[in-house]
Amino acid sequence: MSKESENCELGIFGGGYVGLVAAAGFASVGHRVVVFEVSDEKLQLLNAGKVPFFEPGLEELVKNGISQKLLSFEKATLDRLQEHLPRLQGLLLAVGTPSLPDGRTDLSYLDSVIDLLLKVPQSLEGKILVSKSTVPVGTGERISKRMIEGGKPVAVASNPEFLRQGNAVYDFLKPERIVIGTENVEATEWLRKLYAPLVANGAPLIEMNLRSAELLKYAANAFLATKISFINEISQLCERVGADIQQIHRGLATDSRIGSKFLNAGVGFGGSCFPKDLSSLIHQGEAFSLAMSLTKSTQEVNRRQRLWAFERLQKVWNNDFRGKTIALWGLTFKPNTDDMREAPALSLISRLIETEASIKAYDPQGMGEASRLLKDPLKRGHLQLMKSPQEAVEGADALIILTEWAEFEKMNLSDIKVLMRSPLILDGRNVFSSQQPLKNSEIQYYGVGLPSASA
Ligand code: UDX
Repeated sequence: MSKESENCELGIFGGGYVGLVAAAGFASVGHRVVVFEVSDEKLQLLNAGKVPFFEPGLEELVKNGISQKLLSFEKATLDRLQEHLPRLQGLLLAVGTPSLPDGRTDLSYLDSVIDLLLKVPQSLEGKILVSKSTVPVGTGERISKRMIEGGKPVAVASNPEFLRQGNAVYDFLKPERIVIGTENVEATEWLRKLYAPLVANGAPLIEMNLRSAELLKYAANAFLATKISFINEISQLCERVGADIQQIHRGLATDSRIGSKFLNAGVGFGGSCFPKDLSSLIHQGEAFSLAMSLTKSTQEVNRRQRLWAFERLQKVWNNDFRGKTIALWGLTFKPNTDDMREAPALSLISRLIETEASIKAYDPQGMGEASRLLKDPLKRGHLQLMKSPQEAVEGADALIILTEWAEFEKMNLSDIKVLMRSPLILDGRNVFSSQQPLKNSEIQYYGVGLPSASA
C-alpha cells in the first residue's frame, strides 16, 4: 500500500479458516489487524507464527504479518477487546456457522461475539461491523437490531467470502469479485478503503444491499454444487449407455454459456461449505413455503454419487466382499487440504465397514484428521492408515481413488499393479483415465462416467 493514511485498523473475530486468511491477507497489503480467538491452543500456535491447519502459502503470510507488526492475536475476552477497541475502525465477524442437526445454521458463535460487543462499556458509534461468516438472509438485520436494543447502534455490512480451501491465499489476494452488501454509507466507504489495494490490483468490487449479499453467497455455492451434481448425473447415464463423460465435458465446455469449470464428474462434493450451505438454503426457502426442489435434488444426487465406488464393487464382486482388502487413496474432501469435513471418503468408509472387507487408506495430509474422525473403525481393525500409497495397495484386491492429489497423479500404474493381489482400480476422480499403460494392460480399470464402467 502506498500511502500511510490509507491503512485501516481492524479486528477480526475468529482465527479459523476464513478469519486467518483474511487477517494475513489484509496485513499483507498494509492494514493492521488483530484477530480475536477463543481457543488458547490456537492462540499459542498463531502467536508462534504457526497455522493450525494445512493451507499452502498461509503460514508464510502469517509470519510476515507478525514480523511487520501488522498482525497480532488476542484472546476474545472483554478486557482484550476493550483495550484494542478505541483504535479499531472495522470489526469483522469470521466465526464458524456450522449446521445444526436439522440442517439449519447454528448462529451461536456469532451471537456470542455480539454478546461480547454488547458488554463493552464504551460506545461503538462510528465502527463498522461486517459479517464475513456465511449467514442466512436477515442475519445482518438481526445483528443490527440486537445492537440497537443493547444501546450500541453500529453500521452493519455483509462481505461474503468466496475462498477455496487449498487456493485460499491466491483467492484472497486475487479475488474474482469483492462483494460489499450494506445500505449504510459509512460502511460502504470503509469497506472500499479496506479493499482498495486489491481493487487497485484489478479485483472487481460489487456493491449491493445487505440481504442480497447474504443470499449471493448461498446462491454461488448452490449453483456450483448443482453443476457438479448435474455432471455426475450425466456420468451415471454415460455408464449405462456406453458414452464417455470426458468427451461430453469437452463438448459442453466449448459452449461459452456453459464453461468448463466445476464440471468434473467424480465421487461427489464435500467440504465445509457446499453441504452445509445447501441445507441452510433449503431451510431458508422452506421458511417461506418454497420447496427448493433443485437444491434438494443436488443434495440427493451427491449422496448417491459418493457411493459410486461401493456400487461398482458390488457389481464386480457380485456383492461378496468377504476376505477382500480395499486400498483407498485420498481421504480429504479434495486435494491440498487436511480437511475431511463431509469428505466422500467418510460415506464410503462407513458403507464399506458394514461389509467383511478390510480397508487400507492413505492420504498425503489427512492422516491426523482421519485418526481423529475414524477412531472406531481403526480400533475394530476394519481400517488401517498406511504411510504411503504403495503400502496401501500392497496385497489389495481393489484400489479406490477418491481425491486427485498430485502425489497420486504421478504414480505409475504398472508399478502399482505388481503390488496388488488383483489389479482392479476404481478411479473416482478420473486421474488415470488418459494413461497409456492402461490400454492393453491387465488392469481392470473403471473411471466415473467412462465407457469402461458401462453396465
Ligand atoms: C467452495 C467454493 O468453491 C468457495 O467459493 C466457497 O467460499 C467455499 O466453498 P471449497 O469447499 O474449498 O470451496 O472447495 P471447492 O474447490 O469448491 O470444491 C468443493 C467440492 O467439490 C470438493 O469436494 C471437490 O472435489 C468437488 N468438485 C469440484 C467436484 O466434484 N467437481 C468439480 O468439477 C469441482
